[in-house]
Amino acid sequence: MARHSREALESLRVIPLFSAVGDEDLERVADHLIERRFPKHKTIVEEGLPGDYMYVIREGRVQVSKLSDDGREKILEFLDAGDFFGEMSLLDDAPRSATVRALSDTRILALSRTDFLNVMRRSPDVAMAVVQELTRRLRDTDEQASSLSFQRVKQRTQGLLQRLAKDETGLEGRRITPVLTHQQIADMIGTSRETVTRALKGLKQQGWLEQEGKRYVVPVED
Ligand code: CMP
Repeated sequence: MARHSREALESLRVIPLFSAVGDEDLERVADHLIERRFPKHKTIVEEGLPGDYMYVIREGRVQVSKLSDDGREKILEFLDAGDFFGEMSLLDDAPRSATVRALSDTRILALSRTDFLNVMRRSPDVAMAVVQELTRRLRDTDEQASSLSFQRVKQRTQGLLQRLAKDETGLEGRRITPVLTHQQIADMIGTSRETVTRALKGLKQQGWLEQEGKRYVVPVED
């Protein structure tokens, strides 16, 4: 005899985390889900605190953010209906990695640590959905990390060119002679030739760097 109505189970199946779960497993999940409401602005999960529940959003929108070293709040992600959060602390037993706050009135399903881990162990489809989402988040993070380090490469290239550039009387800007290859610049700042090529292109596009034949022209520093 089914413990939950068909409607209740079908409404869980629209949540990607549970979409591939068989009826019996889904009944078991439904037994343990607790519905909670969080008003707009309410903090649901706080960075640094221990975690006891993971959450699936039924309705509404939340913001995932993290405090950076200089005390500023960096927004990592917005999550909407069907998305889940709060799984990390339950998986590795470390404190909450970020703060999650309601951006609107939200309706959320909560699953305790024990129940979540049991569902993961018993239902490979749920475990797979969690792993796929963690993989997607890691890809995003990698993407951001590489663009941050690319900004640093651009800054190092600017620093190097400024150090090497010389004033030439009667000419605007400062010039670099002898001509440097992209590989030489890469070796001097410790990155790859391809990255230097991209950095130089970026510096030209933003109008900082000019080229006269083979020579680079950089602006005169204030
Ligand atoms: P947990 O560490 O338990 O608590 C904070 C939650 O924020 C975390 O689990 C994830 O669910 C979520 N979270 C952390 N980092 C990101 C991210 N980069 N993108 C999306 N969600 C994240």
